[in-house]
Amino acid sequence: MEQLLLRNFRNYKEQSILWHPQINLITGLNGQGKSNLIEACCYFSLASSYRDSSDGDLIRWQEPYFFLAAKVQGRDPFSCEETPLEMSVGYTREKRKLWKINGKALKKTSQVLGYFQTVIFSPEDLSLVKAGPAIRRKFLNRELLQLDGAFYPAYSAYRQSVEQRNKYLKQSYGQVDEAMLTVWDEEIARYGSVILLKRQQLIEEMLPYARKIHQMLSGGKEQLTVRYEAALYHQKELNDAVWQQIGTMRQEQKPEEAQLAFLQEQLKLALEKNRREDLYKGTTGIGPHRDDVSIAINGISARQFGSQGQQRTAALALKLAEIDLFHAKSGQYPVLLLDDVASELDEKRCKELLELVGEKTQTLITDTKINSFSRYGKTIVIERGTVTA
Ligand SMILES: Nc1ncnc2c1ncn2[C@@H]1O[C@H](COP(=O)(O)OP(=O)(O)OP(=O)(O)O)[C@@H](O)[C@H]1O
Ligand SMILES: [Mg+2]
Repeated sequence: MEQLLLRNFRNYKEQSILWHPQINLITGLNGQGKSNLIEACCYFSLASSYRDSSDGDLIRWQEPYFFLAAKVQGRDPFSCEETPLEMSVGYTREKRKLWKINGKALKKTSQVLGYFQTVIFSPEDLSLVKAGPAIRRKFLNRELLQLDGAFYPAYSAYRQSVEQRNKYLKQSYGQVDEAMLTVWDEEIARYGSVILLKRQQLIEEMLPYARKIHQMLSGGKEQLTVRYEAALYHQKELNDAVWQQIGTMRQEQKPEEAQLAFLQEQLKLALEKNRREDLYKGTTGIGPHRDDVSIAINGISARQFGSQGQQRTAALALKLAEIDLFHAKSGQYPVLLLDDVASELDEKRCKELLELVGEKTQTLITDTKINSFSRYGKTIVIERGTVTA
């Protein structure tokens, strides 16, 4: 990102920032607007807040709208060519939103995905290995949203179907129209199978990069394994059998449609099998919204048995692998956004991080202190939503 303009965004009234092509240290006391800047940058890649805030929360209090504009070195998601882009977005309290790329208005928000890519690393991501499964799903989703144009439509349709099915389950009080549930099951299976396959493929593609980085960080002593754990059945063997079948289909070079059809069927069967339990609990207990990723070091679960240091190293390796994967798939390095992790990572890991990302990526890093990153690029000081130095 070369330049960013914020107007009425969070605690920023009007601020323009020129970024250093490599390292940008954003510093200032607590609550001054450091993370808000990261959030603004991220908005161009995810089209939403990385902190899961609603768009309305991003509008500066008492103001009617927010506006963000950026000059970035983006990529055309269709031709995959690198190209300078001017992106902008405005959003009003009346919930009207307008995205523009090079002056041209986009019809749908989802069209902005894929032009500009970021990898965000916040304290939450440091606990990628240790925390509950939601954060690992988010990790995969964010990557897929930016990489794969087919992911967002499936993901959003899937979420709607699950929401509606859950609403129906809750309202039914045991009096269900089974045919109605079958309709939801089919919808969920159709979109859910896309999510399943894409997430599984993503992990497979990312693993070699993650392993290499992890070996480097752990001094070559440890071997990282990452697996997608689809919560189709309660028995692990049944789930394993599903992925084994997918593996076989791939070896036999069966087309992706065949793999999807198989997963769709499996998901539908699994939903049917779980129907009694879902009715009893009033919620959909299986499907990609319940899945997890298992991370092991030398074959042993890092979540259950890893030391804090091991867990963090594994999280860091996965995050850095994201960068390599973006590059491999799109030919471009994403912008690395490090929010509040400098103080969480020790000096050694910080140095390793710098060495690994090196000159490849543009990095924006926040810290309340002037840290060792300041030596390499630009330092930006923030006070109450204003750049003061
Ligand atoms: N919509 C909004 N309008 C105006 N101000 C807002 C809005 N949303 C958040 N803020 C203000 O932004 C500030 C938080 O900014 P931010 O999260 O960027 O802080 P920070 O510099 O990252 O702090 P820390 O060092 O604690 O992480 C808060 O003081 C909050 O009151
Ligand atoms: Mg912050």
